[in-house]
Amino acid sequence: MAGRGFTVKKNWDNPVEHAMPADARVPAEVCLGPVVVRPATVLAPMAGVTDTVFRRFIRHASLFTTCGSADAASPPENLAEASNIGSFDVAGVESAVTNAQSGCGLLMTEFTSADGLARMRETKRRRYLTFYEDEHPIGAQLFGSNAETLAEAARIVEETGFDTVDLNLGCPAKRVVGCNGGSGLLRDLPKIGEIFRAIRKAVTIPFTVKFRMGWNEAQIVCVELARMAEAEGLNGLALHARTREQGYSGQAHWNWIAAVKQAVRIPVIGNGDVRTPEDAAAMVAETGCDAVMIGRAAPANPWIFRQIAQYTATGSYERPTTEDRYRMIRAYFEMLLVEAEATKDLPRDARMGDPAGKMKQFATWFTHGVPGGAKLRAGIYHARNGADVLGEVERFFVPLIEAGDCFEPDAEDGGQAFPESALVCD
Ligand SMILES: Cc1cc2nc3c(=O)[nH]c(=O)nc-3n(C[C@H](O)[C@H](O)[C@H](O)COP(=O)(O)O)c2cc1C
Repeated sequence: MAGRGFTVKKNWDNPVEHAMPADARVPAEVCLGPVVVRPATVLAPMAGVTDTVFRRFIRHASLFTTCGSADAASPPENLAEASNIGSFDVAGVESAVTNAQSGCGLLMTEFTSADGLARMRETKRRRYLTFYEDEHPIGAQLFGSNAETLAEAARIVEETGFDTVDLNLGCPAKRVVGCNGGSGLLRDLPKIGEIFRAIRKAVTIPFTVKFRMGWNEAQIVCVELARMAEAEGLNGLALHARTREQGYSGQAHWNWIAAVKQAVRIPVIGNGDVRTPEDAAAMVAETGCDAVMIGRAAPANPWIFRQIAQYTATGSYERPTTEDRYRMIRAYFEMLLVEAEATKDLPRDARMGDPAGKMKQFATWFTHGVPGGAKLRAGIYHARNGADVLGEVERFFVPLIEAGDCFEPDAEDGGQAFPESALVCD
């Protein structure tokens, strides 16, 4: 997105390589008020990505694997069928999956406008705030700038059954900042205080805030903001360690996560540039944060939460096989088709919409680094509907699996893990 400050490629393609730190592991759990997040990993809110289908896909990701694992996180026997291609049974998975299996302790919705929510018809609210039982614990994120409207929206979130409500103070998008929402509020701490008090008064569920370090390098407010959050009774906070001006460029400044952690006693969730289990452990080692939040790495590597859990337990983790990748992409596409079917009779604004668009989006991220992935992406790009997309996926993966090819990441593939065009918000 040239001209809007969203440049992720530089950092993404030149990551810092972290060795396994000797003295740190991602914590087994963190408590946001009475809500236990176990393990202490969080799926970051991502507009256009973390809808109900993607969240459940992440929660169940460990099931779509052929890997056998000796640890307690292995999927139970009776779920083996559920991960078979062609017989994916959402209901069967639902009843038995646990956070320990998926490795992701807390799911978050994409951000939702508080103004919109207050005005929306019931049916449309359903679309934005839909979640299934197997998504617990789950937090809903709100953005806005009016304290009363945000408090009203938080009440709706609580009544809908979410476990936590989160306030977005990080979105750099002009249309959000222009209305003083998201990171725009970082320039007005008294206003943030007013919003904190209004939401805190409105709900009893845990209330958290996700923010950036500040508007720019000259106006870093994260430590002060964290202290305010604690003083106003918030139950936790997440820091994406970049400024608004930084967009997604450069590296996240984890030293500010450490500074915030030292300043408050409420749980601190670190966020920014965690791409591997090694990164997650390094973030804990360097900052002392209580939990790790992962955004862009999740669609590129949906196993990352489970890999972190394995790494934490054993010091190593399994890599997906070609067949695992095939199962994974098929399972996600089937979940999309199931959700589209389940919502097709709802009013237009409550339907999931065209699954083919989501399939194309996901295929782009997920085939990053896959040898020949560019060819697959081109085929998928030209597909006209969901069935065509599935056909392309099959044509690509089945011969590889039959030939017994092992997938090794291909640095030359040229696919971009997260295209800049996808970076709509924070
Ligand atoms: C496509 C996309 C959409 C995002 N939408 C949101 C959002 O709705 N709310 C939010 O707080 N952050 C949003 N973010 C920011 C992420 O939550 C996260 O803070 C950021 O990507 C840094 O974490 P990462 O390096 O693990 O990706 C978004 C990021 C991306 C890439």
